[in-house]
Amino acid sequence: MGITYHENTHIFHLFTESTSYQILLFQNAYPLHLYWGHRILEDLPASHLETAYRRNTILTQTPIDDPMFSREYLPFEYPCYGTSDFRSPAYQTVDCDGYRITDPRYIRHQILPGKPSMGPLPSSCCESDDEAQTLIITLLDRPHNLQIDLYYTVFPAYDVITRHTEFTNLSDRPIHLTRALSVSLDIKHGPAQMMELCGTALRETHVERRSLGTGMNGFESRRGFSSHQHNPFVALMNEDTTETSGEVFALSLVYSGSFTMQAERDMYGGIRLQSGINPCEFDWLLTSGEKFHTPEALMVYSCCGLERMSLTFHHFLRERIARGRFRFEPRPILLNTWEACYFTFTQESIMTLAKAAAKAGIELLVLDDGWFGRRDNDHSSLGDWYPDHTKLPNGISGLCEEINSLGLQMGLWFEPEMVSPDSALYRAHPDWCIHVPGYPRTQWRHQLVLDLSRKDVCDYLVQSVSSILSSCPIQYVKWDCNRRITEAASELLPAERSGEFFHRYMLGLYDVLQRITSRFPDVLFENCASGGGRFDPAMMCYFSQNWASDNTDAVSRLKIQHGASMVYPPLWITSHISASPNHQLDRPTPMEFRQHVSQPFNLGYELNLLQMSDSELAAVAQQIKTYQQLRPLIQFGDFYRLRSPFDGNETAWMISAEHGRHILVWYYKPYAQAEEAYLGIKLRHLDETAHYRLLDSDQIYSGSTLMYAGLTIDWHNGDHFSQFWHFERIADAAVSTEAVQEESL
Ligand code: GLA
Repeated sequence: MGITYHENTHIFHLFTESTSYQILLFQNAYPLHLYWGHRILEDLPASHLETAYRRNTILTQTPIDDPMFSREYLPFEYPCYGTSDFRSPAYQTVDCDGYRITDPRYIRHQILPGKPSMGPLPSSCCESDDEAQTLIITLLDRPHNLQIDLYYTVFPAYDVITRHTEFTNLSDRPIHLTRALSVSLDIKHGPAQMMELCGTALRETHVERRSLGTGMNGFESRRGFSSHQHNPFVALMNEDTTETSGEVFALSLVYSGSFTMQAERDMYGGIRLQSGINPCEFDWLLTSGEKFHTPEALMVYSCCGLERMSLTFHHFLRERIARGRFRFEPRPILLNTWEACYFTFTQESIMTLAKAAAKAGIELLVLDDGWFGRRDNDHSSLGDWYPDHTKLPNGISGLCEEINSLGLQMGLWFEPEMVSPDSALYRAHPDWCIHVPGYPRTQWRHQLVLDLSRKDVCDYLVQSVSSILSSCPIQYVKWDCNRRITEAASELLPAERSGEFFHRYMLGLYDVLQRITSRFPDVLFENCASGGGRFDPAMMCYFSQNWASDNTDAVSRLKIQHGASMVYPPLWITSHISASPNHQLDRPTPMEFRQHVSQPFNLGYELNLLQMSDSELAAVAQQIKTYQQLRPLIQFGDFYRLRSPFDGNETAWMISAEHGRHILVWYYKPYAQAEEAYLGIKLRHLDETAHYRLLDSDQIYSGSTLMYAGLTIDWHNGDHFSQFWHFERIADAAVSTEAVQEESL
């Protein structure tokens, strides 16, 4: 497994355990895409290309050496524009004379063990050289001496192939890159549909599936960040693909800035799937000797539906994108003060809350917004990262000491990339925010964004956050980012580099995050951008969990979490039990329903314990105990979607942990319906012949019963019904045949 190249076939064959990806070196000049899909044993025969692509070139454009082939339809691995391929190009350039043509040809390739570093960009990592192999195909555009290296890394055991591209200017004249995508894939028998995760703040990661028409299909973020509106993920599939059957071709971009994700259907039904930095406003000046790396794209193929795709992403993101100490550590159960008291608190009130939290069994208390500068509302103080002594007379370290003395860890909220016009930082450095001289500085939540393309600004961020983190044992940081980028420009960038701004911002941010997270390896960093506004794999390289949405309403969370689970592992998706009625929707929901919705993910609380009755507090304490017992199973198990909230009134999720020994199942029905149909769910991926005990009962079921007859759902009147089952597989010897209750629907 790995990568082969056969001189006789001129084919590069990239294998994972269950997928193959093949590239033909055509005429020893052009890498063409031959195949991506289910693992095949040998290189495709030459006739595969000829029968598929040999056409009457009179009807098309300039033949490519052989009169039977035209660039107009050949499947290029990294296509250019302007020499008769009229589909979407993977990159574009403008040289000093204003010419825009390039025609790169193959010059060499290398197959290396492991995976070379991608410099300052976050990317997947390889723990040892024998778990991955990298193919680098080097192309050269001779007239410009522009070298283009196509990188493909194969992780056979993870069933993942990653791609990115590196440009090197080998000439003595500069050249502009005006488009530089990470990946381009010509899929011959193009699937009929695309699926994405879209929405807005409070309604993130909603699953949307649509048909692909002829021409351009796709979506993009132009907000400077990956955005609530579109997650940098796409899956192509046919109409009949389900959770458990059908082919899926999925891409996820390891990038947190503006991106594009597009699928162009050509006149023969082929699809050109592309992703990378959004070319909108992108213009990178590559001077002599300089290099430009695109972000990395993760490619996942599944021959058996979305479930396999998600599991592949979950394992890979958890183990080869996530870094640091917390990768394999259970996450603490926290209480966040935001919905408990917003900006209104004192040291005393926080300590009263902390005592109630400690009593309930909470493990970490997060002091959210409002602790710094003079921040009594969202009009001021971002940038002034020193404690407000009117609220906290003993500062953060004094509070931390008191919280720790209760046996609780302490966490703190920051929004380091931002500045309030009403702040000491802004008064001292009005030029540090992103702006265009002479134009109004658009405010969003009364704040501006700092110019992270500047080193001095990045250094300030590192120093100001570090000085708080090194002042006392803060164990968690919630890193927020509550607006998008407007008036994109930096005073320090010369005019000919102004199109580099958006990407330079991301490079600055990644540098800051790298410096801070490596300086504080024992701090657990949580990613937040008004909820899920920057929910992407690149952030997983620095953050151990992600606040999926500011919407904590349990009914809304079914869709948000279901959608997020398409790509992201449940332990990365934080889910807090909040008050009823809920603060965003004013919807009341029973405590048990809220518990069941948060439980399969990374559990926390976002409510004022001091406003709860004794019986509610007792329920919270019990929930925490239960979650602590289930935590290793939930956070490191395999997650399955049994029923989708996007298909109707029911949702069901399942986690299989410890190699199938523990099976956890959750079922939800938000709205009661009169005289409703019989309800039931069938489990998946159990051992048919094994037996499973339903915990807290005497019932024993065979795997075959649970999978083929399924579980019946209790009849229940009233909204917000949920049910939970925990099965444990029992050793064969322990099963007495009489005890087996073959229950059927
Ligand atoms: C954002 C976050 C919230 C909270 C507030 C504080 O909206 O998503 O969770 O931290 O900021 O201002």
